[in-house]
Amino acid sequence: MASYPASASALSRCAAVLILFFLNNAWYAECYAAARKTPTRHPLSLDFYAKTCPQLDQFVASVTRQQFQTSPVSSPATIRLFFHDCFVGGCDGSILIAPGPRGSPPVERDMPENRNLGPEGFETINQAKALVESKCPGVVSCADILAIAARDFVHLAGGPYYAVKKGRRDSRVSQAAWVKFNLPRSNSTMDELIGLFAKKGLSQEDLVALSGAHTIGFSHCHHFLGRLYDFQGTRRPDPAINPRLLKALQMSCPPYGGNTDVVAPFDVQTPFSFDHAYYGNLQSQMGLLLTDQALFLDPRTRPVVQTLAKDKAKFFASFAAGMDKMGSFGVKKGRRGEHRMDCTRHSV
Ligand code: HEM
Repeated sequence: MASYPASASALSRCAAVLILFFLNNAWYAECYAAARKTPTRHPLSLDFYAKTCPQLDQFVASVTRQQFQTSPVSSPATIRLFFHDCFVGGCDGSILIAPGPRGSPPVERDMPENRNLGPEGFETINQAKALVESKCPGVVSCADILAIAARDFVHLAGGPYYAVKKGRRDSRVSQAAWVKFNLPRSNSTMDELIGLFAKKGLSQEDLVALSGAHTIGFSHCHHFLGRLYDFQGTRRPDPAINPRLLKALQMSCPPYGGNTDVVAPFDVQTPFSFDHAYYGNLQSQMGLLLTDQALFLDPRTRPVVQTLAKDKAKFFASFAAGMDKMGSFGVKKGRRGEHRMDCTRHSV
């Protein structure tokens, strides 16, 4: 049986183990306008801090390594945090701004789409920032630390290690209103997903490769409940769910009144291992979200799923390339950005 870290989310994670057990004994085992306007890409560089903080990657690595040991869920939490940062107004640390006191303008984190972002991701960035500020004061942005930490966690979970380009400045704003139209929903259509990714300069191949991040991590029931009992008003489950998976998910997620903290693993075979099993699962109708399974059902993306299911090296290369592309989206330079001492607050 897997051991779980003693954190607030540990209980709900344990519910996920039930699903794993059932399925796999071996495991035991910029508002609407902002959405339409594509911010420009700015060149980042590998040696951006060569003079000012040459050991940056090592400093961040010392924190991510420790976090991974004490709390492996930091991996999916931080990778998702990076995605939600980049898609809303660019990779600029805007997601890290903490909600203000009652009555203050809402920030990205206040929105329902971001409410379930794992606290472990934020903790990791805050710890890494504190260490980096103590070694290289006033130099490194929170946005760069987030990009590096996400890469570290991909690698620590078994995925590829790739070089992260740097030079992002932190945003001066964090706008709640930009969230809704810039993040995909668990019931988005393929046209919507392809369109949204295209607005960020990401191709259909990137969409499939980056969705491979769902090879680790968990989802709350409400994101896939619509598939389990009354799919699109048919009063029947989604015909594209594997019957064994369906049964396991129905046991954990009742149609009404279930525990809202319960989560299910995206990859029932190896939920903590960054591998290409996600794509094999899609071929076996074991995708958790409608949007996951749709990648295999849609003829535009199915061939990419088939290729990545066969070829782990290709998945790793495509994922690394996708993260590099996504990581350069909407980057702020110079006076368009700020330097924060504390990632959760704008500088004054
Ligand atoms: C393609 C459209 C996508 C949709 C519709 C989507 C949707 C979701 C949803 C609904 C969850 C579960 C949240 C919860 O219940 O707490 C989730 C989790 C996650 N997503 Fe995505 N996502 C997408 C793409 C991505 C991309 C591009 C990445 C990263 C590159 C990513 C990384 C993750 C990770 C790692 C988790 C697990 C988080 C955890 O366990 O803490 N997702 N996603």
